[in-house]
Amino acid sequence: MAGRFITFEGIDGSGKSTQARRLHAALSAAGQDAILTREPGGSNGAEAIRRLLVEGDPDRWSPETEILLFTAARRDHLEKTIRPALEDGRTVVCDRFADSTRVYQGAARGDLRGLVDRLHREVIGIEPDLTFIIDMDPAEALRRGLARNSGEDRFEDLGLEFQTKLRGGFLDLARDFAERCRLVDGNRPEDEVAADVLALAQDALA
Ligand code: ADP
Ligand code: TYD
Repeated sequence: MAGRFITFEGIDGSGKSTQARRLHAALSAAGQDAILTREPGGSNGAEAIRRLLVEGDPDRWSPETEILLFTAARRDHLEKTIRPALEDGRTVVCDRFADSTRVYQGAARGDLRGLVDRLHREVIGIEPDLTFIIDMDPAEALRRGLARNSGEDRFEDLGLEFQTKLRGGFLDLARDFAERCRLVDGNRPEDEVAADVLALAQDALA
């Protein structure tokens, strides 16, 4: 596929959406044909599945059911949004992708990484060219995330211990996929983080 695929990952409230938006704006301003999208969501079908996932009680779904729902949403997003854009040679900037499932469902909630990987191989099958992992103190991230009052706090409601576990999962992932992953310190002013992200993106995509 001709286009480049860039993803942002990290715990809830780490600043992924902010940084994805800023990178998309910077690339667009520099004349690149780029789209901004997100998971769960990014297509009509996947946005409908998103509502099932991010609202309601933390124990609403079993980890297995969650994996199936996230993967179903991802498949629709891939078919309807990501793949067509990449085939047209566009840059896709995506707020979360399969690494979130690897960490949230595969590591943090039960030992289900094998199932996550098998499903990914069977029905998704692509990895990003470049992944930013925004690292962040979980207590501060939780404060930022809950302060948004978005009504989409099913995962934030799992608490600080869970977010701390997730942070460890993302740090492991940055080591396991060192070639495509760039770890960025999110405990800094937004502008500083954005400048680092843009420089790393230009470097990696040059
Ligand atoms: P995420 O997508 O990782 O959940 P957001 O980008 O939505 O995170 O940021 C969560 C909240 O923190 C938002 O209210 C956002 O404005 C704020 N925020 C983002 N980046 C920073 C930063 N570097 N410093 C302080 N606040 C930030
Ligand atoms: P998101 O809207 O990115 O939340 P936030 O802005 O708080 O970071 O994602 C919604 C929630 O879904 C988030 O808590 C992470 C979770 N999630 C998974 O558990 N697995 C996944 O595969 C994805 C994409 C998200």
